[in-house]
Amino acid sequence: MTTPHSDSPGTAPALDLDNAPDQIVAATTLDGLEKLRVGLFGRHGLVTAQLKQLGGLSPEQRKQQGDRINRLKAQLQQQLAARKTELETAELDQRLATERIDVTLPGRNHAIGGVHPLTRTLERIVDIFSRFGYDVVEGPEIEDDWHNFEALNFPPDHPARAMHDTFYFPDGRMLRTHTSPVQIRAMAGRQPPIRLIAPGKVYRSDSDQTHSPMFHQVEGLVVGEGITMADLKGTLTAFLRGFFERDFQMRFKPTYFPFVEPGADVVIAWQLPDGSSRWLEVLGCGMVHPKVLANCGIDPERYTGFAFGMGLDRLAMLRYGVNDLRAFFENDVRFLQQFN
Ligand code: PHE
Repeated sequence: MTTPHSDSPGTAPALDLDNAPDQIVAATTLDGLEKLRVGLFGRHGLVTAQLKQLGGLSPEQRKQQGDRINRLKAQLQQQLAARKTELETAELDQRLATERIDVTLPGRNHAIGGVHPLTRTLERIVDIFSRFGYDVVEGPEIEDDWHNFEALNFPPDHPARAMHDTFYFPDGRMLRTHTSPVQIRAMAGRQPPIRLIAPGKVYRSDSDQTHSPMFHQVEGLVVGEGITMADLKGTLTAFLRGFFERDFQMRFKPTYFPFVEPGADVVIAWQLPDGSSRWLEVLGCGMVHPKVLANCGIDPERYTGFAFGMGLDRLAMLRYGVNDLRAFFENDVRFLQQFN
């Protein structure tokens, strides 16, 4: 009896009932094993053929041969099943080996983005004023002379217009030089009480370490009956202390803006690392000029209001200790990453 070393059709000896056990043991693939099973138990299989022959035998022989064939059948089936389990186990082991994951390999990193420091600063401002009950509104960045200047009480050829280095379009419109025109748009559309902030981009032809031709302001406007300068001071004091999360001296320095009367610059005593402090201007504010109210169809005899405008970029510089404004706009990830 030969011992087959392979179950491939070309080299294996022909299957017979004597060599079947050896061929089963020698099978190296599940496919090869299945071929053997079909060769033995299939419709034209060797065992099947023997069982078919029983019909032609005498009862005596049939019983004898039947017992023998049934024993052979049971033995071969058991061997097939055993080999099948072995081959399946081997196949699984091999698959596990090739698919093994080395959990000690360094992971693939996905850099997680962060919220830009200016956006963070704005979110903080919006959050504080929302709690004070303010609405958040927006206005266009391309403005006309009426909204950016005239309605805000900058008469034509008034020297105050020279305070802003304006970018004009050929048709006379301009990139807004401040967010104050949003006051006009807001008041023209509704009657008091009004309580809003208006954040946005503004533009002036100016560029150095602390000035960028595009920067951000947040305008504030409150109009109603009996609004006074005390309300303005209280609101800005609460806001600034909340924003910086610290206490400091504050001053309201009288100053001139055409659209408020009186007007003031708010300066705060900013603590420097060496312990000394410096007065820093953080925003402009004042009581809305009666002419501005009237320009928007609001009766200045009945209503008063206050307004303020602050530089978002400047507040962010102070809060995060950034000393070059341009860093906010260069989008260098090494800078931005520090705020994640
Ligand atoms: N619009 C002023 C500026 O850009 C700031 C300001 C707003 C001042 C509101 C007073 C009231 O400088």
